[in-house]
Amino acid sequence: MCGIVGFTGSRQAAPILLKGLGRLEYRGYDSAGIAVVHDGAIEVEKVSGRIAKLCEKTKDGAAVPGTVGIGHTRWATHGAPTDFNAHPHVSNDGRFAVVHNGIIENYLALREELIADGYVFHSETDTETIVHLLELYYDGDVKAAVMKTAARLEGSYALGILCTDTPDALYVVREASPLILGVGVGENYFASDVTALVSHTKNVIYMEDGEFAVLTPDAVTVYDCTGRETKKPVSRVTWSVEAAEKGGYEHFMLKEIMEQPAAVKAAIAPRLHEGRVCLDDFELTAEQLRSINKIVITACGSAYYAGCSGRYAIERLCRIPVQVELASELRYSDPMVDEHTLVLVISQSGETADTIAALKECKARGATVLGIVNVVGSTIAKLADHTLYTWAGPEIAVATTKGYTTQLAVLYLFALYAADRLGRIDEARYKALVHELMELPRRIQQTIDMNWQLPAVASRYSSRSLFFIGRNTDYAVALEGALKMKEISYLHAESYAAGELKHGTIALIEENQPVIAVCCNEAIADKTLSNIVEVKARGAKVLALAFRDNRKIVSQADDVIFIPRVETVFSAALAVVPLQLLAYYAAKEKGCDIDKPKNLAKSVTVE
Ligand code: AGP
Repeated sequence: MCGIVGFTGSRQAAPILLKGLGRLEYRGYDSAGIAVVHDGAIEVEKVSGRIAKLCEKTKDGAAVPGTVGIGHTRWATHGAPTDFNAHPHVSNDGRFAVVHNGIIENYLALREELIADGYVFHSETDTETIVHLLELYYDGDVKAAVMKTAARLEGSYALGILCTDTPDALYVVREASPLILGVGVGENYFASDVTALVSHTKNVIYMEDGEFAVLTPDAVTVYDCTGRETKKPVSRVTWSVEAAEKGGYEHFMLKEIMEQPAAVKAAIAPRLHEGRVCLDDFELTAEQLRSINKIVITACGSAYYAGCSGRYAIERLCRIPVQVELASELRYSDPMVDEHTLVLVISQSGETADTIAALKECKARGATVLGIVNVVGSTIAKLADHTLYTWAGPEIAVATTKGYTTQLAVLYLFALYAADRLGRIDEARYKALVHELMELPRRIQQTIDMNWQLPAVASRYSSRSLFFIGRNTDYAVALEGALKMKEISYLHAESYAAGELKHGTIALIEENQPVIAVCCNEAIADKTLSNIVEVKARGAKVLALAFRDNRKIVSQADDVIFIPRVETVFSAALAVVPLQLLAYYAAKEKGCDIDKPKNLAKSVTVE
């Protein structure tokens, strides 16, 4: 939550900061602000609301002179999204300005202490304590003040700091919040995410927890937590600026839905060699795999739902028991994992606070952790024992789409790999499934092409609350379909295992109640068909999702969305696509802010 940026160089800073914030807006969009050093003083501009408002106020930054600055886009945690709670915050003596992403857990104690020392607070935020601590500890050495301040903070933070006494320098420090440095020529940057940096430089340094850095136009110096200078590798970002832009689409979400064939291909193709799955980044021997008696999958939100789908693939192909747990629950459940457990931790951002905490819990109990992550260099990628990247490219829309389908792709690869290593799949079936995996991107494209009529369907089914039903693999898809609908269209959507309807929920079915029935698992499609008949008998309006040649369904459902036929264990990767589009068009018709739904942020870095 929250995005931070910083720039030091010889160009005007404010327009660069605002552009950078624009790319980070998906991280939070309650308020925004910038601070620059100009003529020896700190100038601050901030607004509640969107970055566009800040651009308007500052004439796209042109009205704010100065060549060194910091910026922030906020997802409010402590204090309402008002002008005075917006970052940056400035010290009482006007010497320091701070932007912060994270949460200071001991801020109340610090606040009381600072107020007793005579410091005056102008906001309700936890962040303001930081800027007063800097003033308290400053005796002419900014680095020392930053390190002393950091030592007092409990919680998570990525901080960007300005000081008027060193007007061309930026100071940054991180603990459990993402922070990346951009290395340019005669200018340097920092940001929460590489998307804010790629239009300026592709050379980046990933900061680690406890590290501190000083950036001037000509140098980037990183120190470890003891204050010793440390040499950090400079990594090269491989994707282009266009990848983080809308490229002609009305919304990032639509662009990202359309990118799924290419994204899934990027996840799968490099891991198939001569007809076999090769996970170069995660090799386990048959013996090591045999010593695993249970797999635990943990994640939040859509990543958790990807895990629910993955569970079916892994159990079916590998015959290893799989437990799927919400990370926010697992972290407090004294989990029963040990050195014989393999834990799959799934996260697009790699920064989700609950997922990180669950990972740490499992590692502490001796489990081996395999991260399935999109963002390179993210916290989960670093903490996991092994990481399989999903290679989806930057995902900007808050509602994940290609992030989710590429997680599925990696889970399928893993299932096939492990089944093969364990000798639990015969060669003919293995070959057939490898072929199916190779075909997935093409079939996702066909799914998109076949479903041109979805705007009209969405219009018919999105007038009130919706039920999504399915069984087994289809139930996992229903969970994700309902979440997509809720988060971007604000329509009430509930998902149920179809067999559970009779145990209570069917009481809610009345005339014209929309029910979306996912029927792609043919082994049990007839069971779901019976549930369709039951809800229809009570007046429901049923939209079914089925394989193209499923004629039975046409006679029962009011409308049918077809997808190409695919192996059942992989069907979620196709079935979810029309549901993403359905949510998209429902939200569009309602005039919702699709890429930035209310109350949400892309990366949930607080508990
Ligand atoms: C999905 O559309 C959501 N915005 C959300 O549920 C998300 O999947 C969840 O917060 C997990 O995020 P992560 O994959 O970055 O860990």
